[in-house]
Amino acid sequence: MVNGTGFLIFHKMNILITGYAGFIGFHLTKKLLGIKIIKNIYCLDNFNDYYDVKLKKHRHDHIVSLDKSKKCSFFKINIKNKSLLLKKFKKKKLTSYFILQHRLG
Ligand SMILES: NC(=O)c1ccc[n+]([C@@H]2O[C@H](COP(=O)([O-])OP(=O)(O)OC[C@H]3O[C@@H](n4cnc5c(N)ncnc54)[C@H](O)[C@@H]3O)[C@@H](O)[C@H]2O)c1
Repeated sequence: MVNGTGFLIFHKMNILITGYAGFIGFHLTKKLLGIKIIKNIYCLDNFNDYYDVKLKKHRHDHIVSLDKSKKCSFFKINIKNKSLLLKKFKKKKLTSYFILQHRLG
């Protein structure tokens, strides 16, 4: 079933967002926090220094402050580390994921 926003609706959603501390990931994570049927948001970023890391940390702190119902879990992981990804997420029963990690050049 698809709701008015275009999201597929499952009974409870477990979402992975890679690059959550980036510009798009941050705004998406904030938006998803307000959606009731989302049970877990797994937020992944490696906090690389392509641009100011303080800005990414500030975004992280902002998400933590908004996450009153503790939906978010945070993972400082490089997406290229496949074995660690498997270890962390294999049993998470992900229903959706947003791949937003990005590095120019
Ligand atoms: N910013 C825009 O206006 C815009 C518009 C359209 C599409 N997009 C697309 O959206 C995506 C995200 O863009 P953005 O502006 O949020 O970029 P961003 O650089 O602000 O964010 C990317 C995030 O990914 C993280 N990251 C990079 N490599 C990683 C890795 N190997 N493992 C884990 N995390 C890693 C970075 O630390 C950063 O926090 C890109 O694919 C971009 O092309 C952006």
